[in-house]
Amino acid sequence: MNQQTERRKRILSGIQPTGTFTLGNYIGAVRNWAKLQDEFECLYMVADLHALTVRQVPAELRAHTREAAAMLLAAGIDPAQSILFVQSHVPAHTQLNWILCCNSQFGELSRMTQFKDKSAKHPDNVNGGLFTYPALMAADILIYNADLVPVGQDQTQHLELARNVAQRFNNAYSPTFTLPEGYITKAGAKIMSLADPTRKMSKSDTNVNSFVLMTDDKDAILRKFKRAVTDSDGIVRYDVAEKPGVSNLITIYSVFTGKTVAEIEQEFAGRGYGDFKTAVGEAVADALAPIQGEYSRILADKAYVDKVLTEGAAAACRIADRTVQKVYKKVGLLQL
Ligand code: TYM
Repeated sequence: MNQQTERRKRILSGIQPTGTFTLGNYIGAVRNWAKLQDEFECLYMVADLHALTVRQVPAELRAHTREAAAMLLAAGIDPAQSILFVQSHVPAHTQLNWILCCNSQFGELSRMTQFKDKSAKHPDNVNGGLFTYPALMAADILIYNADLVPVGQDQTQHLELARNVAQRFNNAYSPTFTLPEGYITKAGAKIMSLADPTRKMSKSDTNVNSFVLMTDDKDAILRKFKRAVTDSDGIVRYDVAEKPGVSNLITIYSVFTGKTVAEIEQEFAGRGYGDFKTAVGEAVADALAPIQGEYSRILADKAYVDKVLTEGAAAACRIADRTVQKVYKKVGLLQL
């Protein structure tokens, strides 16, 4: 097929504005988003509705939503190329959410590990939104007929559910939704906590030394890597089962230097962890510095961020509204 007539594959992904992004968010997802813009038609979203499944302070949620958009712009999302928007600004997501809730089974939603984890973490607030979260996420993806969804490893189960719901809907009515594929990079799809390398790095962790934030200054970054939990054998070698802490640091170093695991093992042979941790911290601080500069500059220009989000919402609505109209008709809702 000639390139002009072939539709470019479409990408959709999102991130919750529940605080400043971590290095895990950046390496596992956001870093790749910018790279995909040349090849694909991309839509990127600040998932503010998803954030409501955990109680939020309203003023903080508002601030974090704009900050999240500014950080995405700073990390290279180009509004001239991609559609950047806030989930709640496109009401069609919640309209499709209901339809997909009615096409999701209690059993499959109950099996979601994120639901189980978050229910255990917030036993006083196991709300309906937390339970049906994956149906809303399916709506986010299916409403744009996205082909690819660049995410970290922790989202693969949700993606699988989105595919199952899409397939079920297509079978029950008629072909409607594209079955989305995950786009998960080999290295960095699961960055681990610096304090407990058997757990995922997460911005909701209560231990601030467990994560690096995108806004951490160089001193904080170096300090956190210096404190990172490793092991006692002093050898820089990649072995996730035996040496999860060191392996996590090797992954991070590899991502920012472009060096292979073998090259890194060789570089630090016989040098111990002190040098290695400093080098990882330096590499991360050097990579984040220009993003942090851009972030401050963009965030100070609230009018610009809001203009991007206004235009993004309008562009997203144009696609999403069409899908919802089609779906409403297919399921038998009366059209006047
Ligand atoms: P969220 O906000 O938890 O995370 C955003 C992205 O960052 C990835 N990620 C990580 N990757 C590697 N290592 C880590 N330690 C790490 N922590 C987070 C996540 O996998 C994710 O890709 N449900 C989603 C938001 C969402 C969404 C969507 C994503 C809503 N609708 C539609 C894709 C498509 C979430 O909570 O991501």
